[in-house]
Amino acid sequence: MTVTRSVVLGCGSYLPERILTNAELAAKVDTSDEWIVQRTGIKQRHIAAEGEFTSHLAIKAAQAALDDAGIDAQSIDLIVLATSTPDNTFPATAVAVQAALGIHHGAAFDLQAVCSGFVFAVATADNFLRGGSFKRALVIGAETFSRILDWNDRGTCVLFGDGAGAIVLEAQQGWGTSVDHGVLTTHLRSDGRHKSKLYVDGGPSSTGTVGHLRMEGREVFKHAVGMITGVIIDAFEASGTTPKDIDWFVPHQANKRIIDASAHKLHLAPEKVVLTVDRHGNTSAASIPLALDTAVKDGRIKKGNLVLLEAMGGGFTWGSALVRW
Ligand code: ACO
Repeated sequence: MTVTRSVVLGCGSYLPERILTNAELAAKVDTSDEWIVQRTGIKQRHIAAEGEFTSHLAIKAAQAALDDAGIDAQSIDLIVLATSTPDNTFPATAVAVQAALGIHHGAAFDLQAVCSGFVFAVATADNFLRGGSFKRALVIGAETFSRILDWNDRGTCVLFGDGAGAIVLEAQQGWGTSVDHGVLTTHLRSDGRHKSKLYVDGGPSSTGTVGHLRMEGREVFKHAVGMITGVIIDAFEASGTTPKDIDWFVPHQANKRIIDASAHKLHLAPEKVVLTVDRHGNTSAASIPLALDTAVKDGRIKKGNLVLLEAMGGGFTWGSALVRW
């Protein structure tokens, strides 16, 4: 054993009870189930209840991940929570999770990379664990995008939903090869020249308000497949793996057309792609851990499987992570 790896001990997720269907949206704005399904693959999304905050979703997902791992919250010494919809401007939503779990040691902080947040959070936790600063990390993606949507803008309000997912990572020793369990590679990218293509038109320092999500959908779509496939090719090259080695492709769930095009370009078979966008919509940083938990709980992802994660979102930010479960 020569290297430290961040090995997945368990995962969990939580979705708010309320389901909002395309038909309900069509009664509020000028859209249709047919348009939404054809352009995005989304059929429904979950919406947080009044008084239900991002932290509440995150705490439930985190507790489920701890239960799945069969470990006590007290053994967690790092919490990295990816969100663009924190409970408050500060303190970090991660400390609300930490307090609710009764953890008074270690560190907890939020990370903001919009839809790429979970991949950025996995990479961050992985680096801390491999560097020896912490031993066990909770990595969470949690969002209440329903709170920053302009519900009169049919171009955006049909796309997003609320939810949370989490994984537990532990520092373990590996051999330094691609047969190791745990996070094998992470690749992160940003290009701020695109910052106005997908943004929120408010904030504490600019308007003093929370603001609403604004997006040039076609521009996002135009860049998405190239950026996603580029950073996945980086993961293959760094790990000495090929698309044939991938057991499960768990992409950020923004749009079925983006996912299909990326998988096709990479020669990843459709039956290896985990899709939840139809039921969850785009839950931003929560979408990957929600999809992971879905595929673990229904028996698709098994111990030893090679799982490829990718995301792209506002900034633009994008990234990939290759994980042996
Ligand atoms: N219902 C009906 N019509 C609509 C709707 C709607 N909900 N929204 C837009 N339209 C109309 C437009 O007004 C336009 O009408 P017009 O031709 O009369 O002007 C027409 O549909 C086409 O609009 P486009 O925006 O060009 O439609 P497009 O085919 O590009 O689909 C979409 C829009 C689904 C947003 C697409 O661009 C997309 O998926 N982009 C990627 C965005 C994304 O996934 N963002 C998520 C965050 S980033 C990430 O996570 C990767």
